[in-house]
Amino acid sequence: MDSLIRVLAQALDMVEIAYIGASTNHGKRIAVLCAAMGRYLGMGEDELSDLVCCALLHDNALTEFIQLQRGSEEDTIYLGPHCEIGQRNLERLPFKGDITGFIQYHHERADGQGPFLLLEGYYPMGAELIAAADMIDVNLHLQRIAPEGLPALRQGIAGDIHRRFTRRAGDALLAVLDEELLASLGDERIVETVNRSVPAWIMDMEDPALVPIAEFIARIIDYKSVFTRIHTQQIANRAWVIAEHYGYDLTRKIQLYLSAALHDIGKLAIPSEVLEKPGKLNDEEFKIIQTHVVHTRALLDADEGLGPITEWASNHHEKLDYSGYPMGKTAADLDFNSRLMACIDIYQAVSEERPYHPRRSHADTIAILNSMAERGKIDPAIVRDMDEIMAPWSGKDVEGPRL
Ligand SMILES: [Fe+2]
Ligand SMILES: [Fe+2]
Ligand SMILES: [Fe+2]
Ligand SMILES: [Fe+2]
Repeated sequence: MDSLIRVLAQALDMVEIAYIGASTNHGKRIAVLCAAMGRYLGMGEDELSDLVCCALLHDNALTEFIQLQRGSEEDTIYLGPHCEIGQRNLERLPFKGDITGFIQYHHERADGQGPFLLLEGYYPMGAELIAAADMIDVNLHLQRIAPEGLPALRQGIAGDIHRRFTRRAGDALLAVLDEELLASLGDERIVETVNRSVPAWIMDMEDPALVPIAEFIARIIDYKSVFTRIHTQQIANRAWVIAEHYGYDLTRKIQLYLSAALHDIGKLAIPSEVLEKPGKLNDEEFKIIQTHVVHTRALLDADEGLGPITEWASNHHEKLDYSGYPMGKTAADLDFNSRLMACIDIYQAVSEERPYHPRRSHADTIAILNSMAERGKIDPAIVRDMDEIMAPWSGKDVEGPRL
């Protein structure tokens, strides 16, 4: 469970590649640099883990930010909203201390030339450190700097103190940025570096704090697509209601809820031109979309603590009769919760409004699921249960868990 945040950070780093054209592993490098600077500045473990989590997720509003940008005529990168939304998104996560302003001000400069025009001393240390790391990584692509480039890099940092960097962040950067740290930021070593140097959030499956984390993940995934704004969150809420109906214990309920929140996380790696294409997809585009479940599995495989969640989430497009994807599994390969995830995903997709169909009532949705069950594609017993459990929510959004 300790690396759920890292799973999300990995997915966010994939968004950056696909959209902004920024280099790979950006969030991870910022986290490693912040951990090193934080330790140098004498932060305690709790403070450090809050800082690192913010650093890993500092560009979490990228998916929403891209939507905002698309909506405007403006082509230039408009930094302010992505800072504000990113801060708001993080606020419900279970931090140990106060992270106010850490994301909101992560593009400020000591000389007041940042998006919120704040001078050195007027934004919190967490933001100073993230901003300093972000600035050098975005401008200089740290993973590509050879050891010979280090003196020039250090000189540049020293010259920009009180301009781009605050005194505190600049000094900390200079103190930690040696050949060894620089070498550990390369693309082939960064994952190992993060695992070694970044404190983890340890949580167990009964921790109610997992619910806001799941909601946060669902929100980020849903923002990737204008057409399906509530898809993931509604699937998670439906999963919760169904898990309660079946009398699952708290661990099982949270597992199913998380699996629902994570099922489409691989979509973050799919280019928007394909994901958002208004017309019919050609064969090649359809194949690209289908790879989202391959990405989901690869991302979730990185966290051993997820247990069965990975399987349930990654199987959501499999059918009982070989006709699903990506593996073309059969009934014998699919356990109950995998079949359930498939049914909930179809229920939500069929019932929610899409560019090519209006919102559908419960009865119309169940009719479609029944015809699939009759053709041997999905589990008829689950469809019968869903008919009963989901009926009260016909035409309405399902409410999420209250813990
Ligand atoms: Fe940013
Ligand atoms: Fe960034
Ligand atoms: Fe999917
Ligand atoms: Fe889905």
